[in-house]
Amino acid sequence: MMSRRHVLGGAVGTLALCKPLRTQGAPVQPFPRGFVWGASTSSYQIEGAVTDDGRGKSIWDVFSHTPGKTKHGDTGDVACDHYHRWHEDIEFASRAGFGAYRFSTSWPRILPAGTGAIEQRGLDFYDRLVDGLIARGIAPWLCLYHWDLPQILQDQGGWLNRAIAQKFADYGRVVARRLGDRVKHWAMLNEPNVHALLGHGMGVHAPGLTGLANMLAALHHLNLAQGVALQALRAERSDLILGTVLSLQPARPSSSSDEDHRAAERFDAMWNGACLDPLFRGSYPASVSADFAPRIMDGDLVTTRQRLDYLGVNYYSPMYIAHTPQSPLGAWFGVTPPGMASTAMGWPIDPTGLTEGLIRLRDHYGNPDIYVTENGACFTDSLDAEGTVRDGKRIAYLSDHLAAAQAALTSGVKLRGYFVWSLLDNFEWEEGYSRRFGVVHVDFKTLKRTPKSSYQWLAQTIHATSHHHR
Ligand code: FCB
Repeated sequence: MMSRRHVLGGAVGTLALCKPLRTQGAPVQPFPRGFVWGASTSSYQIEGAVTDDGRGKSIWDVFSHTPGKTKHGDTGDVACDHYHRWHEDIEFASRAGFGAYRFSTSWPRILPAGTGAIEQRGLDFYDRLVDGLIARGIAPWLCLYHWDLPQILQDQGGWLNRAIAQKFADYGRVVARRLGDRVKHWAMLNEPNVHALLGHGMGVHAPGLTGLANMLAALHHLNLAQGVALQALRAERSDLILGTVLSLQPARPSSSSDEDHRAAERFDAMWNGACLDPLFRGSYPASVSADFAPRIMDGDLVTTRQRLDYLGVNYYSPMYIAHTPQSPLGAWFGVTPPGMASTAMGWPIDPTGLTEGLIRLRDHYGNPDIYVTENGACFTDSLDAEGTVRDGKRIAYLSDHLAAAQAALTSGVKLRGYFVWSLLDNFEWEEGYSRRFGVVHVDFKTLKRTPKSSYQWLAQTIHATSHHHR
């Protein structure tokens, strides 16, 4: 662990842009010219307005409205009401100096029936958002799928039905035809591994399916859909910068036992390898290829392997894995090393896991251009008497992870940018509104936004470590 003390040196109340960064320990070092600073969000987690402008239902509407599925029965019905308050939200992005903003489009807002008829009012919303971002000098980074599948497609098997691949590509084309003249950075999927495992294997995320067979089918069809959509968008316009977003977290054995070592290797192959290898190599990792074999049809692994303009990496934490026969993979999260700090999610904090994942891409996947598309932390934040949120632990987390990103850069990783998760506190899936990841605090009763100390700190960091080319 980092030895420095993680104390925010006094409140950073205002944007004192020229003062040195007020954290203890080494300040964040300058990043290369052109390094992109961004903030990340996703549609279902912030938009609300679930019945506005002809939007169809998504699997998350249905899941969150099913009793017992989310903490306190929370749903995304209102969320941050970003659909109506996007103006204010992108102002926060602009004032912090972010040069990029990553959001996702909601498939059921644009194609309420999943395919076919286009809801122009849904596209109009993203059109306004994109223009608003560009007017503020912020590059829009669009992700086509952050887990909110139209429920109507779920009723036809969703990601278990391989017909989804073409439907996803068709949806991608619809969005690209409307926004491709202004949106240059595209991500196909957000974290197919998490969606497959938590949503289709463990049942704790929408659509709530369980079992190894479902997880494997979902993951293979996500990989396939990603490949088909990359081809479709590349054919649609040649000027798009195309990528996808994976959650890459090292899997470490929870103990020194052989069983836990084997469990960690299997988990790594399923979580990291089963997304990376089909995309970069056109194969599944040898140790799990027999699991996937029944799902693979001729040509699939040619389709999954696509040239990428960039890879998005989401990183939060290393995973400590134990032999767990009763779980679908035979492996699941075990105890973390004694004394290791963790966030309010219970996720162990270790920035070296970020460096490790990035170096793995350098050494084993052809050293692609990479953006960290999500990194951030959940802590129990509260507004103090002066109405500010002094989230020194989040600042320490961010600064340590930026240092870890620097370490990767220094060793030759082609890291081109860093996006914080998240701009706003939001609907954290099955945890509802109980888990705050934002650098801007949201009061979910009044929907009032209040920038946290981490927001001010990031604004200073962006200013101090970039080359003022905005
Ligand atoms: C990632 C998700 C994002 C958010 C963060 C905390 O796995 O992509 O939506 O939930 O975790």
